[in-house]
Amino acid sequence: MAKITYIQHSGAEHVVDVQAGLSAMEGAVKNNVPGIDADCGGAAACATCHVYVDESWLAQTGGRTAMEESMLDFAEAVEPNSRLSCQIKVSDVLVGLVVRLPENQH
Ligand code: FES
Repeated sequence: MAKITYIQHSGAEHVVDVQAGLSAMEGAVKNNVPGIDADCGGAAACATCHVYVDESWLAQTGGRTAMEESMLDFAEAVEPNSRLSCQIKVSDVLVGLVVRLPENQH
């Protein structure tokens, strides 16, 4: 179980417990965190689960996959710390993870 903080573009924070093995996207959706649409259900095929990983967590969350990289071309306002949250696998290493959500997912 990892406590993850999702910060909406408005600044509203949602701190939720996410079971290890789920993705950061699934953790948000299961806990009704607004702002992550996840239209493709986690297949890295829609880019509507875009998040910005807090700089202090970039090493732990790892790099983007090639598929993720190409999908992010379809997202707006991509930054060096942008990830598809469906591709971030939650584990005990990510206890305390902080991600920020973009203004919109389209
Ligand atoms: S849920 Fe579609 S790319 Fe992540």
